[in-house]
Amino acid sequence: MEDQRILITGGAGFIGSHVVEHMVKSYPNYKIVNLDALTYAGNLENLKSVEGAENYHFVKGDICDAEILKELFEKEKFTGVIHLAAESHVDRSITNPLEFIQTNVLGTVNLMQAAMNAWKDDFEGKRFYHISTDEVYGSLGKEGLFKESTPYDPKSPYSASKAGSDHFVRAYANTYGFPVVISNCSNNYGPRQFPEKLIPLFINNIRHMQPLPVYGDGQYIRDWLHVHDHAKAIDKVYHEGKLGETYNIGGWNEWANIDLIHVLIKEVDAQLGRDSGASESLITFVKDRPGHDKRYAIDAQKIKDDLGWTPDYTFEEGLKETVAWYLENTEWLDHVTSGAYQDYYSKQYASE
Ligand code: NAD
Ligand code: TYD
Repeated sequence: MEDQRILITGGAGFIGSHVVEHMVKSYPNYKIVNLDALTYAGNLENLKSVEGAENYHFVKGDICDAEILKELFEKEKFTGVIHLAAESHVDRSITNPLEFIQTNVLGTVNLMQAAMNAWKDDFEGKRFYHISTDEVYGSLGKEGLFKESTPYDPKSPYSASKAGSDHFVRAYANTYGFPVVISNCSNNYGPRQFPEKLIPLFINNIRHMQPLPVYGDGQYIRDWLHVHDHAKAIDKVYHEGKLGETYNIGGWNEWANIDLIHVLIKEVDAQLGRDSGASESLITFVKDRPGHDKRYAIDAQKIKDDLGWTPDYTFEEGLKETVAWYLENTEWLDHVTSGAYQDYYSKQYASE
């Protein structure tokens, strides 16, 4: 591709910040503009490594704000969009579904509309890349994997809102010939993930000798992928993915929550210099998440066959590195867990 001007939304969040960092550093000839509303999950501390880069610019703004988008598209003449901005946490979607519809569905449509208006039906050389989740496929039993052809069956307000946005993206492609590509990825882990999600939440609680709230029996299964591997996959799909196609991205790395938690405790204890298993007693089985999806697992064969992408990280090295990052970046952790986080935490885990 020629030199690009790319709008990345949600670039101050967990995955977005790794995508911004990767794109800014890998493509010095591109201009990368990061639009982020800086909700509780967005944090400019995540972007320190690119702050002063010449090919990078940050704009604070909401994807639901049509005016900001219009101005930004007119000014920057984007050739592409990589859309990651979203409300992303299942538990929050259970207590506050409307925010998820607002950002994930309306925000996505608003963003596409802005791109449509700016590109004025001349889609040559343009692309809109929508980042989605494997959760849109629903929940698997013991066998089977999610393929790109698996019918959508979302079961939480979060996954329903992501499924809704995916449907709109495909509808725009079908109706207007809008140049889209979509990927659906499994659970990510790695540095800078907000500590509401399982791995960083548990690392932080082990650090403070706080209870580790395991939902239900802990036998729920997720397929974990390091965020750097996701960022590289996003680069591949953006540059080489075929318009109109969907790519599933996953780690071939299934873990029952409770097994992962034992490994995590061992690693955190080792890095903190505690006796092996010292923090096992923190495990606390709590009330299950309502409608908790049993198992997610991705068949990532298509992206391997078509685009030559496979994950680089082993889970062992990825987890070790991730634990080390959180234990070295306690200032980051303490910052994001102060204030509103305390309120969220006490409400979410009230029954502990
Ligand atoms: P995150 O919650 O860490 O970050 C979301 C970012 O979007 C934040 O910086 C936030 O400020 C921003 N944002 C939220 N609402 C906005 C709005 N209205 N306008 C502009 N910016 C807004 O999320 P994440 O985990 O980095 O996920 C990024 C994307 O990847 C999401 O679309 C998510 O559905 C998808 N995804 C996540 C995972 C995962 O495991 N985390 C897996 C697959 C797909
Ligand atoms: P999470 O990180 O919220 O990701 P998702 O729900 O999108 O898969 O949760 C991962 C798994 O860990 C999921 O099965 C729910 C479980 N979990 C707990 O057992 N306790 C917790 O406190 C959290 C946040 C998650």
